[in-house]
Amino acid sequence: MKAVVAGASGGIGQPLSLLLKACPLVDKLALYDVVNTPGVTADLSHISSIAQIEGYLPADDGLKKALTGADIVVIPAGIPRKPGMTRDDLFKINAGIVKGLIEGVAEHCPDAFILVISNPVNSTVPIAAEVLKKAGKFNPKKLFGVTTLDVVRAETFVQSITGEKDPAKTVIPVIGGHSGETIVPLFSLAKPAVKIPEDKLDALTNRVQFGGDEVVKAKDGAGSATLSMAYAGYRFAEKVMKAAKGESGIIEPTFMYMPGVPGGEEIAKETGCEYFSVPVELGKDGAQKAHNPIKDISEYEKKLLQACYDGLKGNITKGVEFVANPP
Ligand code: NAD
Ligand code: LMR
Repeated sequence: MKAVVAGASGGIGQPLSLLLKACPLVDKLALYDVVNTPGVTADLSHISSIAQIEGYLPADDGLKKALTGADIVVIPAGIPRKPGMTRDDLFKINAGIVKGLIEGVAEHCPDAFILVISNPVNSTVPIAAEVLKKAGKFNPKKLFGVTTLDVVRAETFVQSITGEKDPAKTVIPVIGGHSGETIVPLFSLAKPAVKIPEDKLDALTNRVQFGGDEVVKAKDGAGSATLSMAYAGYRFAEKVMKAAKGESGIIEPTFMYMPGVPGGEEIAKETGCEYFSVPVELGKDGAQKAHNPIKDISEYEKKLLQACYDGLKGNITKGVEFVANPP
Protein backbone atom coordinates (compact mmCIF):
# COMPACT_ATOMS: atom_id res chain seq x y z
CA MET A 1 0.00 0.00 0.00
CA LYS A 2 1.56 3.31 -1.08
CA ALA A 3 0.08 6.34 0.68
CA VAL A 4 0.68 9.96 -0.32
CA VAL A 5 0.07 13.07 1.76
CA ALA A 6 -0.23 16.27 -0.33
CA GLY A 7 0.25 19.23 1.98
CA ALA A 8 2.46 17.10 4.23
CA SER A 9 4.40 19.95 5.88
CA GLY A 10 1.33 21.71 7.26
CA GLY A 11 -0.47 21.69 10.58
CA ILE A 12 -2.54 18.65 9.59
CA GLY A 13 -0.02 17.20 7.17
CA GLN A 14 2.74 16.60 9.73
CA PRO A 15 0.79 14.71 12.40
CA LEU A 16 -1.17 12.85 9.70
CA SER A 17 2.10 11.80 8.08
CA LEU A 18 3.34 10.67 11.50
CA LEU A 19 0.28 8.47 11.98
CA LEU A 20 0.61 7.01 8.48
CA LYS A 21 4.33 6.38 9.01
CA ALA A 22 3.46 4.37 12.12
CA CYS A 23 0.63 2.47 10.39
CA PRO A 24 1.48 -1.19 9.68
CA LEU A 25 -0.82 -1.16 6.63
CA VAL A 26 1.44 1.34 4.84
CA ASP A 27 4.46 -0.01 2.95
CA LYS A 28 5.45 3.24 1.25
CA LEU A 29 4.71 6.80 2.27
CA ALA A 30 5.36 9.76 -0.04
CA LEU A 31 5.18 13.29 1.34
CA TYR A 32 4.52 16.19 -1.02
CA ASP A 33 4.36 19.89 -0.23
CA VAL A 34 5.51 23.16 -1.76
CA VAL A 35 7.79 23.72 1.28
CA ASN A 36 9.72 21.82 3.98
CA THR A 37 9.17 18.21 2.87
CA PRO A 38 12.91 17.36 3.09
CA GLY A 39 12.91 18.21 6.80
CA VAL A 40 9.64 16.49 7.66
CA THR A 41 10.72 13.40 5.70
CA ALA A 42 14.17 13.22 7.34
CA ASP A 43 12.56 13.50 10.76
CA LEU A 44 9.94 10.79 10.17
CA SER A 45 12.45 8.52 8.43
CA HIS A 46 14.10 7.77 11.78
CA ILE A 47 10.96 6.03 13.05
CA SER A 48 11.43 2.26 13.08
CA SER A 49 8.17 1.34 11.34
CA ILE A 50 7.55 -0.63 8.13
CA ALA A 51 6.74 2.27 5.81
CA GLN A 52 9.55 3.47 3.56
CA ILE A 53 9.32 7.21 3.31
CA GLU A 54 10.10 9.65 0.47
CA GLY A 55 9.63 13.41 0.38
CA TYR A 56 9.15 15.69 -2.61
CA LEU A 57 8.97 19.37 -3.49
CA PRO A 58 7.51 20.62 -6.79
CA ALA A 59 10.96 20.85 -8.44
CA ASP A 60 12.26 17.92 -10.54
CA ASP A 61 8.80 16.45 -11.19
CA GLY A 62 8.19 16.07 -7.44
CA LEU A 63 4.42 15.72 -7.74
CA LYS A 64 4.74 13.06 -10.42
CA LYS A 65 7.28 11.12 -8.36
CA ALA A 66 5.16 11.35 -5.21
CA LEU A 67 1.96 10.23 -6.92
CA THR A 68 3.23 7.48 -9.21
CA GLY A 69 2.16 4.10 -7.87
CA ALA A 70 -0.05 5.59 -5.15
CA ASP A 71 -2.94 3.53 -3.77
CA ILE A 72 -4.28 6.29 -1.51
CA VAL A 73 -3.77 10.06 -1.71
CA VAL A 74 -4.76 12.22 1.26
CA ILE A 75 -4.99 15.96 0.56
CA PRO A 76 -4.77 18.48 3.43
CA ALA A 77 -3.09 21.15 1.21
CA GLY A 78 -4.39 24.68 1.42
CA ILE A 79 -4.82 27.62 3.73
CA PRO A 80 -6.80 27.34 6.98
CA ARG A 81 -9.27 29.83 8.49
CA LYS A 82 -8.55 32.73 10.79
CA PRO A 83 -11.16 34.13 13.20
CA GLY A 84 -14.04 35.82 11.38
CA MET A 85 -13.64 33.74 8.20
CA THR A 86 -16.03 31.13 6.83
CA ARG A 87 -14.76 28.03 5.08
CA ASP A 88 -16.10 29.51 1.86
CA ASP A 89 -13.65 32.42 2.29
CA LEU A 90 -10.89 29.84 1.63
CA PHE A 91 -12.33 28.98 -1.79
CA LYS A 92 -10.35 31.57 -3.77
CA ILE A 93 -6.98 30.06 -2.86
CA ASN A 94 -7.78 26.44 -2.05
CA ALA A 95 -9.90 25.77 -5.16
CA GLY A 96 -6.84 26.25 -7.38
CA ILE A 97 -4.59 24.21 -5.08
CA VAL A 98 -6.98 21.24 -5.09
CA LYS A 99 -7.54 21.53 -8.85
CA GLY A 100 -3.78 21.37 -9.50
CA LEU A 101 -3.22 18.40 -7.22
CA ILE A 102 -6.14 16.45 -8.68
CA GLU A 103 -4.84 17.10 -12.20
CA GLY A 104 -1.69 15.38 -10.97
CA VAL A 105 -3.71 12.48 -9.55
CA ALA A 106 -5.63 12.11 -12.84
CA GLU A 107 -2.34 11.88 -14.71
CA HIS A 108 -0.18 9.79 -12.39
CA CYS A 109 -2.42 7.63 -10.15
CA PRO A 110 -6.02 7.74 -11.43
CA ASP A 111 -6.91 4.48 -9.66
CA ALA A 112 -5.96 5.70 -6.18
CA PHE A 113 -8.43 6.37 -3.38
CA ILE A 114 -8.58 10.17 -3.04
CA LEU A 115 -9.35 11.69 0.37
CA VAL A 116 -9.97 15.45 0.27
CA ILE A 117 -9.50 17.34 3.53
CA SER A 118 -8.86 20.85 2.11
CA ASN A 119 -11.68 23.30 2.76
CA PRO A 120 -14.27 24.19 1.76
CA VAL A 121 -14.90 20.44 1.42
CA ASN A 122 -18.45 21.14 0.14
CA SER A 123 -16.82 22.73 -2.95
CA THR A 124 -13.37 21.10 -3.20
CA VAL A 125 -14.85 17.61 -3.65
CA PRO A 126 -17.03 18.76 -6.61
CA ILE A 127 -13.92 20.49 -8.01
CA ALA A 128 -11.96 17.24 -7.73
CA ALA A 129 -14.77 15.29 -9.41
CA GLU A 130 -15.05 17.76 -12.29
CA VAL A 131 -11.28 17.72 -12.88
CA LEU A 132 -11.30 13.92 -12.95
CA LYS A 133 -14.36 13.87 -15.24
CA LYS A 134 -12.59 16.24 -17.66
CA ALA A 135 -9.62 13.89 -17.74
CA GLY A 136 -11.91 10.87 -18.27
CA LYS A 137 -10.67 9.37 -15.00
CA PHE A 138 -13.54 9.89 -12.55
CA ASN A 139 -14.32 6.91 -10.34
CA PRO A 140 -16.99 8.20 -7.93
CA LYS A 141 -16.47 5.21 -5.63
CA LYS A 142 -12.93 6.35 -4.87
CA LEU A 143 -13.35 10.09 -4.28
CA PHE A 144 -14.08 10.93 -0.63
CA GLY A 145 -14.60 14.23 1.17
CA VAL A 146 -13.33 13.69 4.71
CA THR A 147 -16.06 14.61 7.20
CA THR A 148 -14.81 12.30 9.95
CA LEU A 149 -13.94 15.19 12.27
CA ASP A 150 -17.65 15.99 12.55
CA VAL A 151 -18.31 12.38 13.56
CA VAL A 152 -15.44 12.45 16.06
CA ARG A 153 -16.81 15.69 17.55
CA ALA A 154 -20.32 14.26 17.84
CA GLU A 155 -18.96 11.19 19.66
CA THR A 156 -16.90 13.38 21.97
CA PHE A 157 -19.47 16.05 22.80
CA VAL A 158 -22.29 13.60 23.54
CA GLN A 159 -20.14 11.99 26.21
CA SER A 160 -21.17 14.68 28.71
CA ILE A 161 -24.70 13.27 28.40
CA THR A 162 -24.02 9.55 28.08
CA GLY A 163 -21.20 9.39 30.63
CA GLU A 164 -19.74 6.58 28.47
CA LYS A 165 -16.07 6.07 29.38
CA ASP A 166 -14.91 5.50 25.80
CA PRO A 167 -16.62 8.12 23.60
CA ALA A 168 -15.76 6.31 20.35
CA LYS A 169 -18.09 3.46 21.42
CA THR A 170 -21.13 5.62 20.68
CA VAL A 171 -21.70 5.60 16.93
CA ILE A 172 -23.39 8.76 15.67
CA PRO A 173 -24.04 9.30 11.98
CA VAL A 174 -23.35 12.85 10.79
CA ILE A 175 -24.70 13.65 7.34
CA GLY A 176 -24.89 16.54 4.85
CA GLY A 177 -21.76 18.60 4.25
CA HIS A 178 -18.83 20.03 6.18
CA SER A 179 -19.59 23.60 7.26
CA GLY A 180 -21.93 25.12 9.83
CA GLU A 181 -25.57 24.33 9.13
CA THR A 182 -24.72 21.85 6.38
CA ILE A 183 -23.39 19.53 9.12
CA VAL A 184 -26.31 17.46 10.43
CA PRO A 185 -25.62 15.17 13.40
CA LEU A 186 -28.22 12.45 13.86
CA PHE A 187 -28.34 11.83 17.60
CA SER A 188 -31.69 10.07 17.18
CA LEU A 189 -29.84 7.25 15.40
CA ALA A 190 -27.02 6.90 17.92
CA LYS A 191 -25.94 3.33 18.66
CA PRO A 192 -26.32 2.42 21.43
CA ALA A 193 -29.35 4.72 21.72
CA VAL A 194 -28.86 7.99 23.57
CA LYS A 195 -31.61 10.00 25.24
CA ILE A 196 -30.73 13.68 24.80
CA PRO A 197 -32.76 15.94 27.14
CA GLU A 198 -34.79 18.37 25.00
CA ASP A 199 -33.20 21.43 26.60
CA LYS A 200 -29.71 20.18 25.67
CA LEU A 201 -30.28 19.17 22.04
CA ASP A 202 -29.89 22.64 20.46
CA ALA A 203 -26.58 23.33 22.22
CA LEU A 204 -25.20 19.88 21.44
CA THR A 205 -26.17 20.08 17.77
CA ASN A 206 -24.78 23.61 17.47
CA ARG A 207 -21.49 22.57 19.04
CA VAL A 208 -21.00 19.83 16.43
CA GLN A 209 -22.00 22.18 13.59
CA PHE A 210 -19.68 24.95 14.77
CA GLY A 211 -16.93 22.90 16.48
CA GLY A 212 -14.46 24.16 13.88
CA ASP A 213 -15.12 27.78 14.94
CA GLU A 214 -14.40 26.85 18.55
CA VAL A 215 -10.86 25.79 17.58
CA VAL A 216 -10.30 28.70 15.17
CA LYS A 217 -11.24 31.12 17.95
CA ALA A 218 -9.01 29.43 20.54
CA LYS A 219 -6.03 29.37 18.13
CA ASP A 220 -6.58 33.11 17.69
CA GLY A 221 -5.13 33.58 14.22
CA ALA A 222 -2.77 30.58 14.25
CA GLY A 223 -5.06 28.40 12.13
CA SER A 224 -7.78 25.81 12.64
CA ALA A 225 -8.06 22.24 13.87
CA THR A 226 -4.92 20.28 12.98
CA LEU A 227 -4.31 17.56 15.59
CA SER A 228 -7.93 16.42 15.91
CA MET A 229 -8.14 16.55 12.10
CA ALA A 230 -5.01 14.46 11.70
CA TYR A 231 -6.58 11.91 14.08
CA ALA A 232 -9.86 11.98 12.12
CA GLY A 233 -8.15 11.89 8.72
CA TYR A 234 -6.04 8.96 9.80
CA ARG A 235 -9.07 7.14 11.19
CA PHE A 236 -10.83 7.46 7.84
CA ALA A 237 -7.73 6.59 5.78
CA GLU A 238 -7.16 3.50 7.92
CA LYS A 239 -10.74 2.36 7.29
CA VAL A 240 -10.36 2.86 3.54
CA MET A 241 -7.11 0.85 3.57
CA LYS A 242 -8.54 -1.93 5.75
CA ALA A 243 -11.53 -2.24 3.40
CA ALA A 244 -9.20 -2.24 0.39
CA LYS A 245 -7.35 -5.16 1.96
CA GLY A 246 -10.58 -7.12 2.26
CA GLU A 247 -12.00 -6.32 5.71
CA SER A 248 -15.79 -6.23 5.50
CA GLY A 249 -18.51 -4.39 7.42
CA ILE A 250 -16.71 -1.03 7.55
CA ILE A 251 -19.20 1.85 7.43
CA GLU A 252 -18.26 5.51 7.89
CA PRO A 253 -19.91 8.79 6.87
CA THR A 254 -18.16 10.54 3.97
CA PHE A 255 -19.02 13.24 1.41
CA MET A 256 -19.34 11.67 -2.05
CA TYR A 257 -20.87 12.05 -5.51
CA MET A 258 -24.08 10.23 -4.69
CA PRO A 259 -25.26 9.25 -8.20
CA GLY A 260 -21.99 7.34 -8.62
CA VAL A 261 -22.34 5.17 -5.50
CA PRO A 262 -24.78 2.21 -5.25
CA GLY A 263 -27.77 3.42 -3.22
CA GLY A 264 -26.74 7.04 -3.68
CA GLU A 265 -28.96 7.91 -6.64
CA GLU A 266 -32.02 7.89 -4.36
CA ILE A 267 -30.22 10.11 -1.82
CA ALA A 268 -29.30 12.65 -4.51
CA LYS A 269 -32.96 12.74 -5.61
CA GLU A 270 -34.34 13.03 -2.10
CA THR A 271 -31.92 15.75 -0.97
CA GLY A 272 -31.55 17.61 -4.28
CA CYS A 273 -27.78 17.50 -3.63
CA GLU A 274 -25.54 15.47 -5.94
CA TYR A 275 -22.82 15.51 -3.30
CA PHE A 276 -23.79 14.48 0.21
CA SER A 277 -22.29 12.81 3.23
CA VAL A 278 -24.00 9.65 4.47
CA PRO A 279 -22.72 6.47 6.10
CA VAL A 280 -20.98 4.59 3.29
CA GLU A 281 -20.00 0.95 3.31
CA LEU A 282 -16.41 0.56 2.16
CA GLY A 283 -14.99 -2.32 0.16
CA LYS A 284 -12.02 -3.40 -1.93
CA ASP A 285 -12.85 -0.96 -4.70
CA GLY A 286 -14.03 1.94 -2.54
CA ALA A 287 -17.64 2.83 -1.74
CA GLN A 288 -19.87 -0.22 -2.01
CA LYS A 289 -23.13 1.19 -0.74
CA ALA A 290 -24.49 4.52 0.44
CA HIS A 291 -26.91 4.10 3.33
CA ASN A 292 -29.88 6.46 3.47
CA PRO A 293 -30.76 7.23 7.09
CA ILE A 294 -33.16 10.09 6.28
CA LYS A 295 -36.43 8.16 6.56
CA ASP A 296 -35.58 7.16 10.11
CA ILE A 297 -34.64 10.55 11.57
CA SER A 298 -36.52 12.80 14.00
CA GLU A 299 -38.65 15.83 13.07
CA TYR A 300 -35.98 18.04 14.69
CA GLU A 301 -33.33 16.58 12.36
CA LYS A 302 -35.61 16.92 9.33
CA LYS A 303 -35.71 20.67 10.00
CA LEU A 304 -31.91 20.77 10.25
CA LEU A 305 -31.74 19.07 6.86
CA GLN A 306 -33.79 21.81 5.18
CA ALA A 307 -31.18 24.40 6.23
CA CYS A 308 -28.41 22.03 5.14
CA TYR A 309 -29.78 21.63 1.60
CA ASP A 310 -29.94 25.38 0.97
CA GLY A 311 -26.30 26.04 1.89
CA LEU A 312 -24.90 22.88 0.38
CA LYS A 313 -26.42 23.30 -3.09
CA GLY A 314 -24.73 26.69 -3.50
CA ASN A 315 -21.35 25.33 -2.36
CA ILE A 316 -21.58 22.42 -4.81
CA THR A 317 -22.52 24.64 -7.75
CA LYS A 318 -19.64 26.98 -6.94
CA GLY A 319 -17.16 24.09 -7.15
CA VAL A 320 -18.61 22.71 -10.39
CA GLU A 321 -18.63 26.19 -11.97
CA PHE A 322 -15.00 26.78 -11.00
CA VAL A 323 -13.90 23.93 -13.27
CA ALA A 324 -16.46 24.55 -16.03
CA ASN A 325 -15.68 28.28 -16.30
CA PRO A 326 -12.25 28.90 -14.79
CA PRO A 327 -11.91 32.45 -13.40
P1 NAD B 1 -1.51 24.67 6.99
O1 NAD B 1 -1.38 26.02 6.38
O2 NAD B 1 -0.87 24.44 8.31
O3 NAD B 1 -0.93 23.59 5.99
C1 NAD B 1 -1.27 23.55 4.64
C2 NAD B 1 -0.10 23.01 3.86
O4 NAD B 1 -0.47 22.96 2.48
C3 NAD B 1 1.17 23.91 3.96
O5 NAD B 1 2.28 23.15 4.37
C4 NAD B 1 1.34 24.41 2.53
O6 NAD B 1 2.69 24.62 2.16
C5 NAD B 1 0.69 23.28 1.73
N1 NAD B 1 0.36 23.63 0.37
C6 NAD B 1 -0.12 24.80 -0.12
N2 NAD B 1 -0.26 24.71 -1.46
C7 NAD B 1 0.11 23.46 -1.81
C8 NAD B 1 0.17 22.77 -3.04
N3 NAD B 1 -0.18 23.34 -4.20
N4 NAD B 1 0.60 21.48 -3.03
C9 NAD B 1 0.97 20.89 -1.87
N5 NAD B 1 0.94 21.50 -0.67
C10 NAD B 1 0.51 22.78 -0.65
O7 NAD B 1 -3.07 24.33 7.05
P2 NAD B 1 -3.78 23.15 7.88
O8 NAD B 1 -4.16 23.65 9.20
O9 NAD B 1 -2.97 21.92 7.75
O10 NAD B 1 -5.15 22.99 7.03
C11 NAD B 1 -5.12 22.53 5.72
C12 NAD B 1 -6.52 22.54 5.11
O11 NAD B 1 -7.36 21.58 5.76
C13 NAD B 1 -7.25 23.87 5.24
O12 NAD B 1 -7.91 24.16 4.03
C14 NAD B 1 -8.25 23.62 6.35
O13 NAD B 1 -9.36 24.45 6.28
C15 NAD B 1 -8.60 22.18 6.08
N6 NAD B 1 -9.23 21.46 7.20
C16 NAD B 1 -10.22 20.58 6.91
C17 NAD B 1 -10.82 19.86 7.90
C18 NAD B 1 -11.93 18.87 7.58
O14 NAD B 1 -12.64 18.45 8.49
N7 NAD B 1 -12.08 18.44 6.35
C19 NAD B 1 -10.43 20.03 9.24
C20 NAD B 1 -9.41 20.92 9.51
C21 NAD B 1 -8.81 21.65 8.47
C1 LMR C 1 -12.93 22.04 11.17
O1 LMR C 1 -14.10 21.63 11.15
O2 LMR C 1 -12.29 22.12 12.23
C2 LMR C 1 -12.26 22.40 9.88
O3 LMR C 1 -13.14 22.41 8.81
C3 LMR C 1 -11.45 23.64 9.96
C4 LMR C 1 -12.27 24.89 10.09
O4 LMR C 1 -12.05 25.82 9.30
O5 LMR C 1 -13.10 24.97 11.00
